[in-house]
Amino acid sequence: MVKTIDWVDGKVMMLDQSKLPIDVTYIECTDYLRVAEGIRKLWIRGAPAIGIAASMGIALAAQQIRAEGIEDFTKKLEPVYKTLLETRPTAVNIQWAVNRFRTFVESNRDAGIQHLRELLIGEAKKVLEEDIALNRAIGLWGAQFIKDGDTILTHCNAGSLATGGYGTATAPMRVAKEQGKKFSVIADETRPVLQGARLTAWELMEDGIPVTLITDNTAGALMQKGEIDLAIVGTDRTVRNGDVANKIGTYTVAVLCKEHGIPFYVAAPLSSIDFSIPTGDLIPIEERDASEVTHIFGTCRIAPEGVRVRNLAFDVTPARYVTAIITEKGAFRPEDLKELAEADKDISGLRIGAAQ
Ligand code: MRU
Repeated sequence: MVKTIDWVDGKVMMLDQSKLPIDVTYIECTDYLRVAEGIRKLWIRGAPAIGIAASMGIALAAQQIRAEGIEDFTKKLEPVYKTLLETRPTAVNIQWAVNRFRTFVESNRDAGIQHLRELLIGEAKKVLEEDIALNRAIGLWGAQFIKDGDTILTHCNAGSLATGGYGTATAPMRVAKEQGKKFSVIADETRPVLQGARLTAWELMEDGIPVTLITDNTAGALMQKGEIDLAIVGTDRTVRNGDVANKIGTYTVAVLCKEHGIPFYVAAPLSSIDFSIPTGDLIPIEERDASEVTHIFGTCRIAPEGVRVRNLAFDVTPARYVTAIITEKGAFRPEDLKELAEADKDISGLRIGAAQ
C-alpha cells in the first residue's frame, strides 16, 4: 500500500495526490508553511490525513523555532497553529491536531526546549501510527455490514490515501476482503476534483478490490435497477446530533439511499467527530476556487469565461439519513453518538452488532 505521508530524516514527505493516478511523486516539506501549502492545494487531502499533516507541520515548526524559554516557545507556536487551521475549515481533524499538540506542549513544558522538540516529533509519528490502528478497528466493526455478493457505493476518497493508511470507508471493505467475502465497489467519480476517479478507483484496483467507476449522476439509476446494496462514505466533521459533513454530493447519495431503502453508513474515527457543535448547520463549509469547476486540472476550460460559479467543497447530510456511524469504538445509531463524548462512559449497550 502506497504511503500517504511520513516523517523521514527530519522532513515531511507527502504523496502529491493532485498528480494521481498519472504520477506517483512525493513532495518534501522542510518547513510548516510548505505543509500548509500542501493541505491548501490538495497535495494531501482527506480529513484524517490532513490532521496527520498538521501534526507533522507543528513538529517541523518546533524544530525551527528559536525561543528564549518555554513561554516564548509556546507563544511562537501560535502563528503555526493559526496558519494550519486556516488551510481548510471543514475537516475538524486539523482543530483536533492543534488541540492535541497544545495540550502536549503544556504537559511537557518542564522537559526543556530541546527535549520537547524531540518529544513533538515522537508525538507526530504517534498520530500517524494511531490513525492506521484506528482505521483497522473501524474495519473490524464495519465488516459486519458487508455480505457476500454485495455492491457498495462510495463517494469521494475515504481510503488509505485520505488517512495514514487503510482508510475509513474502505476499512470495512479491506477487512471483508481478508475474511474472504466476495463483493464489489462502485466509486462515484466525485466532481469537481475527481477524488473518486483518480484516487478511490486507483487504490482499490491496486489492492485487488473489484471497482466500477461511475459519473456522480449515475448512482440514482443504479439504485433504481437494484444494483447497489449499501453505501459507505467518510466524513470531514460529524457533530453531536449525528449530522455528517462530507464531500459535496454525499447528501444527494444519502437521500437517494433513503428513497431506495439502501443502508447508508458513515465511517469516522472519533477525531472526525466534533462534540462541541450541536447541529450540522453550524459546520463551516469550505468554498473553493471557481477554476476547479470551470477547468479540468486548471488547464482545460470547460465553461464560458466569466460564468458565475458556486464551488462548495462539502455538504451536510442530516442524521435522519444515516443508518449507522462506524467508529473505532463500534457502530452506533447517529442519535447515540453523543454518548461517546465522555471517554469513560459505558457505551457497550448502544453498539450495533459486533466486531468481526
Ligand atoms: O476535499 P477532500 O478530498 O479533502 O475531501 C475528502 C472527503 O470528503 C472525505 O470523504 C473525508 O475527508 C473523509 S476521509 C477518511
